[in-house]
Amino acid sequence: MLHGKKILIGVCGSIAAYKIAILIRLLIKQGAEVKIIMTNSALDFITPLTLSTLSRNPVLTQFQEEKTGEWNSHIDLGLWADLFLIAPASAKTISKMANGICDNLLLATYLSARCPVFVAPAMDVDMYQHASTKGNLEKLSSYGNHLVEAPYGELASGLSGEGRMTEPEDLLEILKEHFKKKDEFRGLSVLITAGPTHEKIDPVRFISNFSSGKMGYALADELAKRGATVNLVSGPTHLRLKQAKINRIQVSSAQDMYKVCLAFYEKTDIAIFSAAVADYRPSIPAEQKIKKSAGPLSIELVKNPDIAFELGQKKKNKQVNVGFALETDNEIRNATLKLKEKNLDFIVLNSMQDKGAGFSSETNKISILDETGLKKSFELKHKTLVAKDIVDFLSNRIHDS
Ligand code: C5P
Repeated sequence: MLHGKKILIGVCGSIAAYKIAILIRLLIKQGAEVKIIMTNSALDFITPLTLSTLSRNPVLTQFQEEKTGEWNSHIDLGLWADLFLIAPASAKTISKMANGICDNLLLATYLSARCPVFVAPAMDVDMYQHASTKGNLEKLSSYGNHLVEAPYGELASGLSGEGRMTEPEDLLEILKEHFKKKDEFRGLSVLITAGPTHEKIDPVRFISNFSSGKMGYALADELAKRGATVNLVSGPTHLRLKQAKINRIQVSSAQDMYKVCLAFYEKTDIAIFSAAVADYRPSIPAEQKIKKSAGPLSIELVKNPDIAFELGQKKKNKQVNVGFALETDNEIRNATLKLKEKNLDFIVLNSMQDKGAGFSSETNKISILDETGLKKSFELKHKTLVAKDIVDFLSNRIHDS
């Protein structure tokens, strides 16, 4: 699994730095190539000679080598790596990473790395529990970094609690799992609808909703990371793609979204309907701007195509359709009805009753239901992490069937 994989490790100042020597040995045994960056503080805990001997590569600490004057390019290092592991990650480095501070080679490489970044914190229990550290770690996760939570145990201070760096053997398993997941959806084509739609009233006005598109974009990102070919049909949003390989088709109205989805559906293995498609549109948008007048104004609305329903009717044996439901009442019952009506394989329910869940927030709280009923309920978390949960569920479903 790790043969030929290029692993860059950033070591910070922490007692746990000695564990990195063991990790490097394990990685080399697995056939990985390993390069190490150390912060100045890390030099107080373990020598570069130990790590360079084990990794079979020079250990880098400065932008410029003192003896040779040679330039260590953080950009080249970031491009070289298939994965960047920051371990042990100290509270100081975590805080700088969360805030884009760039005052050493490790941090500059972090900012320029295009590969997945894993962060394994190591610190004393109270530092780890501190609200500022927690906030910084949450920020790092929301940027798409992978957090390796520090387990409970005995700490160098003599205290016990969370804050120990994850053991090298466990870190190795986490990295292996990552590379396994990377190929989980290879060869599969995924269609995702995201964002709101705009339904034209006249040349300057439209009907829409508060959907931000964040959930659909997070799903597109997660699936592309795991090897899927992703076609993202996006309604109007200001969101940017995190990966150039995602094929985004930008549309405005429900009818446009439907046409594009129809064109892609036959060659789609998995369709995820996360868009908040407007159910109705003005029957005939006015050609000129509608002028205000003394009396009330009526606009006749006609029904839009229900994309999930229509494509559910066309679904073939191996295709998997996933829908979303945003309910204000009778949540499970309504979501189950939608699942059946739209011929979905499973449905993700977000409750409007949960604070922090739903349309434009950064976080979401979901439950997943399939034809057998409620399968799983999750805690409130950032949408990038919700996307991981949904994709894990999807992966189990397609790989177990
Ligand atoms: O019926 P309701 O709008 O609540 O269903 C929500 C699900 O159906 C979502 O997955 C949404 O993306 C999809 N949908 C659709 N086209 C519509 C309306 C909803 O694809 N016109």
